[in-house]
Amino acid sequence: MRFLKKALLVSALAAAPLMGFGAAQAQDVKIGFIVKQPEEPWFQDEWKFADQAAAEKGFELVKIGAVDGEKLMAAIDNLGAQGVQGFIVCTPDVKLGPGMVAKAAANDMKMMTVDDRLVDASGAPIESVPHMGISATKIGETVGDAIMAEIKNRGWNIADVGAIRVSYDQLPTATDRVEGAISVLKAGGFPEANIFDAPQAKTDTEAALNAATTVLNAHPDIKYWVAFGLNDEAALGAVRATESVGIPAENVIAIGIGGAESAINEFKKPDPTGFAGTVIISPRRHGYETALNMYEWIANDKAPEPLILTSGTLATRDNYEQVRKDLGIE
Ligand code: GLA
Repeated sequence: MRFLKKALLVSALAAAPLMGFGAAQAQDVKIGFIVKQPEEPWFQDEWKFADQAAAEKGFELVKIGAVDGEKLMAAIDNLGAQGVQGFIVCTPDVKLGPGMVAKAAANDMKMMTVDDRLVDASGAPIESVPHMGISATKIGETVGDAIMAEIKNRGWNIADVGAIRVSYDQLPTATDRVEGAISVLKAGGFPEANIFDAPQAKTDTEAALNAATTVLNAHPDIKYWVAFGLNDEAALGAVRATESVGIPAENVIAIGIGGAESAINEFKKPDPTGFAGTVIISPRRHGYETALNMYEWIANDKAPEPLILTSGTLATRDNYEQVRKDLGIE
């Protein structure tokens, strides 16, 4: 036994200089990255940037889409069975928090969240799980500022304008974003009675379109509309809804949050649509940085910061190319 131990030690020491210690470790690191909406450009971008971190550091990245709670729990077990030591997750349901914490621990994996922060049974954030999200209220306020500026720019009488609040209130970051926008609208004299809730069943464009259509049909007398929600998809869904009921683009101001392909494509259309702007946020930070932080945690026992909130920058149809250039996005 003693001999065996010594032999193992000797061979390990002999191997180390050949392989280089860091390299040998990086090869053994496997990191999972689960997202709730794999077809959404934002999450595609997060994965793309996490892949960059994997290529740079030499670890393996396992990407899984999990659109509901059942798939999510199966995905965590799946990662555990593959020998993954830690994962980053944007959950389809933040209320699964306590169950996810337990499942990660049962599989002996470290867990970090991105975008959507886990909550406990009382609805409070689970602070023991490191998280990177956006500064939701502040970014919502930027959306509100952009809407108010454009209302002024178009010379609308504020009393004649309706607002579609595309909402997903079971998700705290979504509520913070829309409430941030509403606070600015109200401060600017926007009539509260003209702000209509359009609850969406999912956080994609189709669900937002359906939700916004209901509001528009209920208020055929309103001529001018503004719209906002938790992401570009919410704002785009509202824009598609206005188009489907025949409201001209010049009577619509929707501002999104994200700045990924779906938003930029809208700006590239030859005729302006109601999608007037987006607050660009950083999938690079949310994908590359989280993956790198998880790597440091696993390989070097360096725990990530408990909470990082990233910022956003408004881009409109007129200036998006310059804004993207300034932010270093090609
Ligand atoms: C949520 C939204 C996404 C994106 C991220 C950004 O997860 O559903 O569309 O806005 O937040 O953190």
